Amino acid sequence: MLIYSSIGELQTFLNEHKKKNNSIGFVPTMGALHDGHLSLIEKSKELANVTVCSIFVNPTQFNNPKDLEKYPRTLENDTKLLQDVNCDVLFLPEASEIYPQEEALEVFDFGDIEHVMEGKHRPGHFNGVGQIISKFFDIIHPDYAFFGEKDFQQLAIINRLVELKKYSVKIIPCSISRADDGLALSSRNARLNENQRAIAPIIYQTIAMAKRLRGTSSPQEIEEKVRNEIHKSSEFTVEYVEICDDKSLHRAQ
Ligand code: PAF
Repeated sequence: MLIYSSIGELQTFLNEHKKKNNSIGFVPTMGALHDGHLSLIEKSKELANVTVCSIFVNPTQFNNPKDLEKYPRTLENDTKLLQDVNCDVLFLPEASEIYPQEEALEVFDFGDIEHVMEGKHRPGHFNGVGQIISKFFDIIHPDYAFFGEKDFQQLAIINRLVELKKYSVKIIPCSISRADDGLALSSRNARLNENQRAIAPIIYQTIAMAKRLRGTSSPQEIEEKVRNEIHKSSEFTVEYVEICDDKSLHRAQ
């Protein structure tokens, strides 16, 4: 696996492949890789001739400095995992090259979908995701880019970004990878203590319950039941539970 941290060197390598009409698949990550990420790499290897994975903990998408500081960083292990699945290129850019001081940060208008759910609770988060992904698309010009459906709202934002900036990349949504007990794999799971990890599958169980209740109760009643069930059987405090339309992301009525 080739490892680049310089944008210029990565582009020289990719240009050689583009000349030969080789397609480029791109998997952006913030590291602390797990099987969910590796399934994106595998999907890219099926579709594209060359797979590039980036690891960059993007500061502009963190509205909470503590969250940025505590984000798990496991580069040595990540490199090994990527080698094991035969990823072609690992891109490890420096923040100073991605965000040069003299360059103003772009501000996007993603419309309504930016201001609901995660957008409401993490102000500026999706603008930061838009900033880093548009930087990467401008650097790499991938033919395909792979995003997990776990971050469903992020996927909607990326699709909107592609429309806004008229990128020719094809966005490939990839299904959620779950642990045996149902918990969706996530780098942040590493921050759960043993007890929290043991009760975390309540999230999946109540989502499954919500699905079963569909049609028998109103969306608002189902949201309430999910909230109550989580509060009753765990130490978690629910930030929000919202059942939304999968296209508009508006609250279901
Ligand atoms: O989903 C993530 O890990 C990040 O939001 C992404 C897409 C790599 C952008 O930093």
